[in-house]
Amino acid sequence: MQGKRILLIVGGGIAAYKALELVRLIRGAGASVRAILTAAGEKFVTPLSLASLTGDKVYTDLFSLTDEAEMGHIELSRDADLLVVAPATANLMARMAAGIADDLATTALLATDKPVLCAPAMNVRMWQHPATRRNVETLQRDGIAFVGPDAGEMACGEFGPGRLAEPAAILAAIREHFAGRAPTGALSGVRVLVTAGPTHEPIDPVRYIANRSSGKQGYAIAAAAAAAGADVILVSGPVGLPDPAGVTTIRVETAREMLAAVEGALPADVGIFAAAVADWRVETEGGQKIKKQKGAAPPALALAENPDILATIAGGAKRPRLVIGFAAETEKVIEHATAKRQRKQADWILANDVSPDTGVMGGDANTIHLVGAGGVDSWPQMSKIEVAERLVARIAAALAQSPRA
Ligand code: C5P
Repeated sequence: MQGKRILLIVGGGIAAYKALELVRLIRGAGASVRAILTAAGEKFVTPLSLASLTGDKVYTDLFSLTDEAEMGHIELSRDADLLVVAPATANLMARMAAGIADDLATTALLATDKPVLCAPAMNVRMWQHPATRRNVETLQRDGIAFVGPDAGEMACGEFGPGRLAEPAAILAAIREHFAGRAPTGALSGVRVLVTAGPTHEPIDPVRYIANRSSGKQGYAIAAAAAAAGADVILVSGPVGLPDPAGVTTIRVETAREMLAAVEGALPADVGIFAAAVADWRVETEGGQKIKKQKGAAPPALALAENPDILATIAGGAKRPRLVIGFAAETEKVIEHATAKRQRKQADWILANDVSPDTGVMGGDANTIHLVGAGGVDSWPQMSKIEVAERLVARIAAALAQSPRA
């Protein structure tokens, strides 16, 4: 978070005093804070206390000529790396959802091109009201992230969800945002199926055809999805990795076993096909070890094509809502991945260059190009664990934008 700039919008609620503690925590983590205080917010905390803690001027008035001369509201909203609304009141969220810009806070929120994190706080009945439910759903569809509210005793004496998340939890959500990780619980209630590792295709009882997949990327994805609260089933080929914690792991050997296990694990909301499935198997597996015979020609191995698991599931009746495949290429990475996305009917293909000099096969780092319907998003080189976390964050955002029918 070092050097990041946060624009904190403080709405009018009894929890507004916690925004002061939040400012302290954010600055302690190395980021700077500029604050907008709504008119209702001013009833709970003063501009002076916020200014003292942010070490900056506090912005309150859309029509202040001096403010506009020094820093226009557009610039104010775009100068930040992240906008945090805490507390986000029912009224503020309703205006955000409707695109109303009738004060400095809502104008900045409408004018911004930066990500927004909302920390709601309100009475439990207001939080549960269908109007607020609708507004939260709309904001989530617009890509706005949420932290909290917590459940507990409220200032008004009632009990239930509606309390502002603790400042430390809001800080954690801000950190997760900058780390590219999904917020805690972002995939709760979501069933994720992951394939990983190579497959082994037997030639005879002691020999097999395989490839160099280590399973590390698929295992990291399964672990990251589980950490985000998903119900994860990992169908794994033979690898030397332990079962990830909190994940149901099914171990298989061959492509055909993998397909059967995947079909048995459906339905799922998300399917991530990270396995490096062997394209071919030996047509007839020898029942006994094939013996070397002096002077005889080497045995000819007739190969048969294996089922394409990703294509079968993507084109099948139980297709997950989001189907994600990988494309390990050694040349024309994006071109091949784009064609593969179409051919296999995947929503996204994560393409990576696995030429021997990249060290990706078996290594700990990866460089990904995410090919989707809207184009290509190239990620910098990062560890396979970071790739997994970023992918899970993207999945959570995509599911939030297209909630279950
Ligand atoms: O065609 P290619 O093997 O490059 O496609 C890679 C993608 O397809 C990966 O997501 C891989 O898991 C999946 N795949 C599969 N079954 C196969 C071959 C590939 O699921 N038989």
